[in-house]
Amino acid sequence: MTTLITNIAQLVNTREETTLLRGAALAALPVIEDAFVLIEDGIIADYGHMYELELKVPQLPKHIIDSDGQFVLPTWCDSHTHIVFAKTREDEFIDKLKGMSYADIAAKGGGILNSANKLNDATEDELFNSAWKRLEELSKLGTAAIEIKSGYGLTAEGELKMLRVIKRLKEKSALSIKSTFLGAHTYPLAYKENHSGYIDSIINQMLPVIAAENLADYIDCFCETGFFSPEEMETICKAGISYGLKPKLHVNQLNSIGGIESAIKLNALSVDHLETMTDVDVKLLSSSSTIGTLLPTAAFFLRMPYQPARQLIDAGCAIALASDYNPGSSPSGNMNFVIALSCIQMKMLPEEAINAATINGAYAMELEKELGSITIGKKANLIFTKPIPSLAYLPYAFGNNQIDKVMINGQFI
Ligand code: NIG
Ligand code: FE
Repeated sequence: MTTLITNIAQLVNTREETTLLRGAALAALPVIEDAFVLIEDGIIADYGHMYELELKVPQLPKHIIDSDGQFVLPTWCDSHTHIVFAKTREDEFIDKLKGMSYADIAAKGGGILNSANKLNDATEDELFNSAWKRLEELSKLGTAAIEIKSGYGLTAEGELKMLRVIKRLKEKSALSIKSTFLGAHTYPLAYKENHSGYIDSIINQMLPVIAAENLADYIDCFCETGFFSPEEMETICKAGISYGLKPKLHVNQLNSIGGIESAIKLNALSVDHLETMTDVDVKLLSSSSTIGTLLPTAAFFLRMPYQPARQLIDAGCAIALASDYNPGSSPSGNMNFVIALSCIQMKMLPEEAINAATINGAYAMELEKELGSITIGKKANLIFTKPIPSLAYLPYAFGNNQIDKVMINGQFI
């Protein structure tokens, strides 16, 4: 089927070809005013100014949509989430409001271990159904590509169950999905005093099955004091790499303990969180090919200092934005709010934030050939806004839903 979209007020992030954007390049967001897009069988076939339409599309298709006054953007690419989980944790949220510390909550069996207990009690179908609902909600908010992690199993059985759920989501959903094995999220209680025993189970029990069943694209590790050390992360990631899984890592949320340096040595696709960065960390990241993925809603929800986005961009780093949607530290996957927060609290420019949430997010999932920009040959995954006065209005009018409709593979959802 061929669809022509006409009279678009602004067609955003139009690129003949793309590169990973770093430093000053993040602020350049190409836009065509008064534009059209031609879609053939779910793929962007052409685009341009309305005055070029006659020349570029001499034979108008039957199916024409007039988008008068709307802005059209590529859909969000959310490259870091944990949306497969059994239960929400608002009880812990209340405990924290009443003054309990993270350590008190952990001592009560809360946090990641709480989610792991709940997950191990849930069936694969229950997990699939709840994650499916979350995907449906996210797609209405403009997300059409998403990375999903395991990490709430913490046993071979639980981790494999989560990864099989993600595989089913991949097969059934119109969204583009990448899967990440996060067995190294925390040490389960049974291995609290036996770290090498758990690492051995990750390497010798879990990874061989994950590889044999093709259950993951990436390997992740929560590298923080009290969780996994950089040395432990290196051991786990090297085993993952030997099975073809590239590292995509949780580092520098709470502490700077050498996670960035190790991640770069491991040639990680991305390092995610980055609330706590030293000048040395920033310098190392800026001269590497690893993407820095900022998760501002986690900092917001935990009342932590935000990621130093300006310092990272000014140093020349490649930056992506993601939601970290999970029941503990970011119980929302709304990328529109992620973009607003990154502008309001981290002083990113709207252009930088939109690039970081689209094309650079696509790079952070190795989906840049299919998604992340308005480019001929890429998927017609598009956000149609309500009439808005300017692009900056999107982060400015935070919390208001400015999305009129979302198209995935050429179809409105
Ligand atoms: O990315 N910090 C590690 N993992 C998650 C939070 C997990 C949880 O509390 O359930 C994160 O923020
Ligand atoms: Fe996370």
